[in-house]
Amino acid sequence: MNIPFEIYRSPNTMRARVEDLRRDGRKIAVVPTMGALHEGHLQLLRVARAKADVVILTIFVNPTQFGPAEDLSRYPRDEAGDLAKARTCRIDLAFCPDVASMYPTGAQTFVEVRELQQALCGASRPGHFAGVATVVAKLFNATLPHVAVFGEKDYQQLAIIRRMTRDLDFDVEIASVPISREADGLAMSSRNAYLSADQRRAALSLSVGLAAAEAVVKSGETSAAKIVAAARAPIEAEMARIDYVELRDATELTPVETLAGKAVLAMAVFVGATRLIDNRVLG
Ligand code: PAJ
Repeated sequence: MNIPFEIYRSPNTMRARVEDLRRDGRKIAVVPTMGALHEGHLQLLRVARAKADVVILTIFVNPTQFGPAEDLSRYPRDEAGDLAKARTCRIDLAFCPDVASMYPTGAQTFVEVRELQQALCGASRPGHFAGVATVVAKLFNATLPHVAVFGEKDYQQLAIIRRMTRDLDFDVEIASVPISREADGLAMSSRNAYLSADQRRAALSLSVGLAAAEAVVKSGETSAAKIVAAARAPIEAEMARIDYVELRDATELTPVETLAGKAVLAMAVFVGATRLIDNRVLG
């Protein structure tokens, strides 16, 4: 039975609605986003649709995960456009809180996943993952989902959310969805909108680098240094500044020197002022 589409603006009203739906025996899925929806987000919504009776999209540009010099104020916002796109994927409810209802004055409690948050993006974005883990915990408390859907594009984020869910006993299944890419291979991202035409061409070097690394692995290479070098070469040939390119254990994100089990090759690259990330699981 369909339920009327509604937008909720505060955690309390959202949770009251979900409590009713759970009492009726509905299975609830949530897809947390910061809006500026693209095809990658829509793919998450489709997976959620297939897994649950009620799909909740959340849109919240979370200030606590942005550093002081980052793009919080210019992050693209278009709630009406986002909801129109999301409704083509048959979402049931939307949770679009304002900052004051999520972070009341005096809020000072944060969730930290201490080891996993340190490497990779955590090293160059101090506090970022505490902001992410905190807001995702809060979104779980507001939407009481049975299942939550996240993208593999943000690989470290996904690992942190899985660990937080387990460590804090959230009764939520974490489902993940492979990276959605443009036809030429560029990973879809809301931040791609910042790129000029030249930068858009340079940005392609991330996925080209990942493919080059995968090719050397297929031909038998197991040295992390050589795999990373293969990935770096096409990026260094562009006007791009590498933040990191690293091979890490796929679950613990600890450094890997020789590829043996499953590892993730993860990268962050500045193209102009825009920081892009991409990854590929190898081995
Ligand atoms: P946002 O960047 O809007 O991404 C929302 C979800 O979409 C995340 O799970 C992300 O991994 C996924 N996603 C983005 N681009 C993707 C792509 N090309 N392929 C597959 N999935 C993709 O990630 C966040 O927001 C925030 O940190 C959030 C979890 C909402 C907490 O504020």
